[in-house]
Amino acid sequence: MYETRIIEATDDGMKDAQNEAVAFLQKGEVIALPTETVYGLAADAFNPEAVAKIFAAKERPEFDPLIVHIASFQDLERVAIVPEDIRETIGKLSNEFWPGPLTIILPKTPQVPDLVTSGLPTVGVRQSGHPMFQSINKALGNPIAAPSANRFGRISPTSASAVMKELGGRIPLIVDAGACNEGIESTIIRIEPREGKKPIFYLHRAGPITKEQLQKFGKVEKVKPGEKLQAPGQLASHYAPLTPFRLISKPDDFTPEPGKTYGLLSYKGEEGGEFVRMHRWDSVVALSPGSGKLSEAAIRLFYAMREMDEMGLDEIIAEPLSEVGLGVAIMDRLRRASA
Ligand code: TXA
Ligand code: MG
Repeated sequence: MYETRIIEATDDGMKDAQNEAVAFLQKGEVIALPTETVYGLAADAFNPEAVAKIFAAKERPEFDPLIVHIASFQDLERVAIVPEDIRETIGKLSNEFWPGPLTIILPKTPQVPDLVTSGLPTVGVRQSGHPMFQSINKALGNPIAAPSANRFGRISPTSASAVMKELGGRIPLIVDAGACNEGIESTIIRIEPREGKKPIFYLHRAGPITKEQLQKFGKVEKVKPGEKLQAPGQLASHYAPLTPFRLISKPDDFTPEPGKTYGLLSYKGEEGGEFVRMHRWDSVVALSPGSGKLSEAAIRLFYAMREMDEMGLDEIIAEPLSEVGLGVAIMDRLRRASA
């Protein structure tokens, strides 16, 4: 048991927060750090005992590999072997999207402990765009292994208080830099080169970097059925609130049972909306009130799910969004929460 402390990484506190965080990481402890996507549970990726503590704190099965974060592009070859035939593509993708929410699966170097990759020959790598995360990563000097800072199977945290609810007592420190500005986890791809053509990007997880953005550099395809990683992070059921949660596709799909309380997780929450007016909801929470912006909906998604989970409703009903741009990643999370 730890007494979990939250340290604020505000203007004055930046340096103190950074020093403390680095000291814990150097000691082989795991701590929660903000990234631009969601809060991560961080450990020195080259220290297997520290990495083991991540799995313990999250109660995460050891066959679910972790993402490794590098402080600079130069550090890529410390963790991954970049095959010659995709070197140019990696250059282009990193130029365009790093630092940022794109994770690329590459063959790993021997320095990366097997525990990090769950014994896989590959490693998922990204460079976080969060200034606080970056400065801690640089000061540590080693890559940082970090999954989302939630207990296994639960909703990813997008604030320090959400991390506290998930992992309070299990870790010594949470660095609080406010709300995350993407709100959903990074896009994950694997690259397959093709002779004389743009490479194929197999989409392992939809995220803030959209298919439309990736298409400039390659052909985006779904992961081949046989290749689908048997990792829990890829399971249909994930991101689950404790309250029963159901994504419906049209108003007719919902038949309320008498005496039960229902909340609606709505995109815009507008009064005349077909889902809003179909029932006298006990609560309506809008992801992006008013005109509806997908980027705002993504930022608010996990926060709204947590908020509704605490209302003591009998069931949460989610309305669908159209699957374009960021809508793909949001619908992916709603489906998994609903499975
Ligand atoms: O935005 C994010 O990616 C956040 C922040 C903290 O960086 N991290 C995150 O990590 O979402 P996590 O562990 O919750 O999800 C990582 C997923 C795993 O579930 C796994 O399926 C996939 O990445 N993954 C990691 N390494 C892989 C590999 N070598 N091959 C295939 N999938 C891999
Ligand atoms: Mg996760």
